Amino acid sequence: MSPFTDTPSWHALLAHRDALAATPLDALWKGDPDRGPSFTFQCAGIAVDFSKQRADAETLGLLATLARERDVPAAIATLFAGEKVNVTEGRPALHMALRGDEHVKADGHDVYPEIQSNRERMRTFAEAVRNGQWKGATGERFTHVLALGIGGSSLGPKLAIEALRGEADGPRVRFVTNVDAAEFDDATRGLNPASTLVVVASKTYTTQETMVNALAAREWITAALGSEALAKHFVAATANVKAAGEFGLPECNVFPFAEWVGGRYSLWSSVGLPVAIAIGSTRFEQMLAGAHATDLQFRSDPLERNVPALLGLFGIWNRNALGMGTHAVLSYASRLESLPAYLQQLEMESNGKRVDREGREVLFPTCPVVWGGTETPGQHAFHQWLHQGTDLASTDFIVVAQAMGARPIHHEILLSHACAQSEALMTGNDPGDPHRVSTGNRVSTTFVLPKLDAYHLGALLAIYEHKVFVQASVWGINAFDQFGVELGKTIASRILPAVQGANVPLHPATSHLLAVIRKQSGTH
Ligand code: F6P
Repeated sequence: MSPFTDTPSWHALLAHRDALAATPLDALWKGDPDRGPSFTFQCAGIAVDFSKQRADAETLGLLATLARERDVPAAIATLFAGEKVNVTEGRPALHMALRGDEHVKADGHDVYPEIQSNRERMRTFAEAVRNGQWKGATGERFTHVLALGIGGSSLGPKLAIEALRGEADGPRVRFVTNVDAAEFDDATRGLNPASTLVVVASKTYTTQETMVNALAAREWITAALGSEALAKHFVAATANVKAAGEFGLPECNVFPFAEWVGGRYSLWSSVGLPVAIAIGSTRFEQMLAGAHATDLQFRSDPLERNVPALLGLFGIWNRNALGMGTHAVLSYASRLESLPAYLQQLEMESNGKRVDREGREVLFPTCPVVWGGTETPGQHAFHQWLHQGTDLASTDFIVVAQAMGARPIHHEILLSHACAQSEALMTGNDPGDPHRVSTGNRVSTTFVLPKLDAYHLGALLAIYEHKVFVQASVWGINAFDQFGVELGKTIASRILPAVQGANVPLHPATSHLLAVIRKQSGTH
């Protein structure tokens, strides 16, 4: 397939961009007072307002045409049919099947019965931990979960538990992600092994950081309670059941998921076990239901009002036509503090690619830098850069309509700031003094969730998942592999013996750096 930049619609979009260039964003509103409703679309109960994008009705039409010229509708059908869309690894990407109720085949097998039985086991176990039927080795109820995992095996559960903190009525979950010993020590400080359940999440069950933390946790449990206690205190969510068995876990402590669930798409699988334990299986399944509602709309809504597709297409418009290299996600909800980290992995690990599906170098920029924060604190930090910096960034505002606390005035102020920031970015101002000028013309999309509950969180995350897929389809890249992370892992395994004192050949730059580290440590 030739690059998207060769399509007639892309050429038309570039000409259209030039024609629009002289029109300030704000003037688009003056020319079309109905712009609000005509650029706001619904997906699974979330309203998404694109009216502050640099776009008019013609842009929308051309972007939809671009998606058609790039066969996005066929790509969506292929994805949901369980075809091997991950071409480099020869795998489907069927995470949507984990939240749906359809019989889908992967490699000729109906995956539905397996999904159902895994879900049932997960539900039974989560509820048994919550209601105290599944107890620790000394008969104590579990008050805490120590959740070990990294990347997709941690970011989703952490985000979900924080976001749904208001509904978390089960054992408290502490996460250990980094191999930094301080993180393990901080997470276990004050925890009683007798009332702690360890959940290891690792698709491969080989990831070094997680395995080292799992060994530390196993030692922590067995030192306090004896090796017999493992069967009561240790469970795993993995696609590598064999490795979890070799680690010493009985089969019934292993909650499997399939190879066709990508790491960064695994929240919906048994990797979500800590979430189900924290908030209950019913709420966990509401999260799946919200994501499923997004899936249904993504498959059926016309491109001109298909929220995940438009999010992806406006992303391409901003990145490839308007030259924005970074994308900020601004959540007006403290409980969404981990959303930028989650989206960083989802977007940057998926679409941070420099070759197309056939391995040819792409000659256009792909995924922008994704970053962000929770607001209003970010307003007192990096928003200065958004308003007056020399680079243009696209932004997503995440707003929750219903208050998340008991004090209405807090929520009213929060909402006023959310509205003010996107208005200020768009309109700018010119009080005369150049130091005080905000140029405006800075684009944003605003998501309005009715409330921050499990259903809408699931819907929101699935919108972003499909955004990533749409962008990958237009760019012609594979969103489902991540070979770029391998080189560093391989080099680290070569360097580790040297860090431990062995005399192994090293790159001179690394020898130098290790010498500096040794000197700084005071041991040499
Ligand atoms: O290093 C990248 C990565 O493979 C991610 O894609 C994945 O989410 C993470 O590591 C953790 O992998 P695992 O679940 O196999 O431990």
